Amino acid sequence: MSQAKPTILKIGGSVITDKSKEMEVRMDAISRLADEIFEANPKNLIIIHGGGSFGHPLARKYALKEGFKDASQIVGFAETHHVMTVLNGLFMDALIWRGIPAVSIPPSSCALTKNGRIACFEETPLKRLLEMGFTPVLYGDTVLDTELGFTILSGDQLTSFLALRFNAERILIGVDVDGLYDADPKTNVKAKMFEHLSLEELKKTHGLLGGSNGCDVTGGMANKIAELIPAVERGIPVLIVNASKPKYLYKALKGEKVKGTLIEKE
Ligand code: IPE
Repeated sequence: MSQAKPTILKIGGSVITDKSKEMEVRMDAISRLADEIFEANPKNLIIIHGGGSFGHPLARKYALKEGFKDASQIVGFAETHHVMTVLNGLFMDALIWRGIPAVSIPPSSCALTKNGRIACFEETPLKRLLEMGFTPVLYGDTVLDTELGFTILSGDQLTSFLALRFNAERILIGVDVDGLYDADPKTNVKAKMFEHLSLEELKKTHGLLGGSNGCDVTGGMANKIAELIPAVERGIPVLIVNASKPKYLYKALKGEKVKGTLIEKE
């Protein structure tokens, strides 16, 4: 049974859904990414995907991130979790029918947060799945919170948490731009991409980074990057690549040279 360090792959919701519309899946992107993961055939992989136009609009409609305020949110929590399982199901279909031994782990059933931060995570099933050669798949989800009642747990917080908990070899972040820029490349043509950032440089860029397009309750690019800092501090390298472009994710998984932003401790 495998004991090697895992690779944690986060696929942003903007890659697998169209964030400008509600509940709009990009099936072509899901199929292509599943092909690339199958062809790269990485060992010890944990996949986490975002919510995109499935999770975010409902989470905002019911103000779930802020926690329980009134009973009308209860059905909203259930709805939001449900649409995440629908998106996850589409992704799981694509992985499994290609022969990838993917097993879905709903964070709402194994994680509890305290004021929005993971306070308790039942890791044993995930650990055993990895040891047996499965590919666990998690996602940004609705979770119960010891102080707030409930909240939204982003896939990015999960990524960093699992990277630390499982002493990951590396983190790959698939987004819909070529890497990390000093401004939002979708709205600023002068935005400059970083090819390499040390931890110190990353901390300095934090204030520069733009938000995200569409509706994003978990804070856009700046928040995603802030979540990665503890993992980089531990010495886990992070590579941000464009998973909307064919073969970028494949190359990243294979460890081949690919355009993107590499973040390392030194
Ligand atoms: C959000 O997860 C999950 C919900 C809103 C339920 P993420 O924050 O990881 O999603 P993306 O990648 O930004 O879409």
